[in-house]
Amino acid sequence: MNVLLIGAGGREHALAWALSASPLLTKLFCAPGNPGIAELAECVALDAGNHEAVIGFCRDNAIEFVVIGPEAPLVDGLGNALDDAGIRYFGPTKAAAQLEGSKGFTKDLCREANIPTADYGRFTDATSAKSYLATKTLPIVVKADGLAAGKGVVIAATQSEAEAAIDACFSGAFGAAGREVLIEEFLDGEEASFFALCDGKTAIPLASAQDHKRVGEGDTGPNTGGMGAYSPAPVMTEEMTQRVMREIIEPTVKTMASRGTPFKGVLFAGLMITSTGPKLIEYNVRFGDPETQVLMLRLKSDLLSSLIATADGVLGKFTVRWSDDAALTVVMAAEGYPGTPTKDTEIKGLETARQTPGVEIFHAGTRRDGPRLLANGGRVLNITGRGRTIAEARDAAYAAIEKIEWPGGFYRTDIGWRALKAR
Ligand code: AMP
Ligand code: GLY
Repeated sequence: MNVLLIGAGGREHALAWALSASPLLTKLFCAPGNPGIAELAECVALDAGNHEAVIGFCRDNAIEFVVIGPEAPLVDGLGNALDDAGIRYFGPTKAAAQLEGSKGFTKDLCREANIPTADYGRFTDATSAKSYLATKTLPIVVKADGLAAGKGVVIAATQSEAEAAIDACFSGAFGAAGREVLIEEFLDGEEASFFALCDGKTAIPLASAQDHKRVGEGDTGPNTGGMGAYSPAPVMTEEMTQRVMREIIEPTVKTMASRGTPFKGVLFAGLMITSTGPKLIEYNVRFGDPETQVLMLRLKSDLLSSLIATADGVLGKFTVRWSDDAALTVVMAAEGYPGTPTKDTEIKGLETARQTPGVEIFHAGTRRDGPRLLANGGRVLNITGRGRTIAEARDAAYAAIEKIEWPGGFYRTDIGWRALKAR
């Protein structure tokens, strides 16, 4: 079958890599794609926000299945438009995408379904947010309600920091996403990214991963979209996985279905594993980036069949198999990230680097200028290694990085430190 993948990042390159190995695939298209994806798919200049254009493209190219990578088109209702046009796709509807589109929506659902999460309040003005704050203990977490590309969260150590974060949201620092503010109890523990495929009624667990959100070594500095990840996450034991399914994922799927807005797609739970058990930090309604890059290296089952089974509502009869190997990805970012990244610096040595045994290199933000490859974004490359252990996977990834010549870029040298220290 012909498949259209929507997106342009490292996550989509990893998805394209796995989709292109499917025996079900005839031709893969990607909109808009990137130079790495262009080696696996035909990249097309389509605006995912223009639903008519996407539907027209699907009809003209006999597309039988659409895979939507990023959250924005999902929250924007691209799925509903495809539904109306009778085109099958992977991802939630607009109503179900509210699990990511509004943090307050998810918190209220947790309260209704008794899902463990941080205590919270929702506010639409600074005065009531600040009076609530005055009754709480520090540190405390202040969040913009809507989509803010991972940047709308402040962990405040002092009352004045928290008040400044509240004022920043209401004065438009995150645009419409900050019209409502959430104040949350600070959760202490180890974070993990957990993924489950959901077909509206049944959920099946995928593998776990651990992200590194801070830009600096030793988990310091500002938050980013993720500077590296590894899978599996040792903290997600079989017992913990079962608890997360029972206490968090299954009640969510059940509540969404009972409201008449069943969730189909991949539910990405950002978890804090606390001393009393797993708690939900937030949901995303799409695969993680860079978590997908490590998951795809470990996936043994056919990705395309798994995504189609999800869309068709037949996960009850489905299992997904994983390699026992570990995978680890290091994000190479352009100087300036997560602020304003420097664009158009030249990257050399990728051809040599990708020959490193056990390594796949995914493009996240690159563009071609004739024969030259240039940085074109904040997170630019994902150097991903596989090995029998996390240490082996890490060694493969860093060995490949040694061969890349890119003075305009930087990366963390300590990806995987928690898992490696625990040994
Ligand atoms: P979010 O965008 O909600 O995932 O938040 C981004 C990051 O902020 C998370 O990955 C956590 O590291 C941190 N964070 C968010 N909420 C909390 C919380 N309630 N307690 C502790 N850390 C949090
Ligand atoms: N790596 C975190 C995310 O995809 O949101």
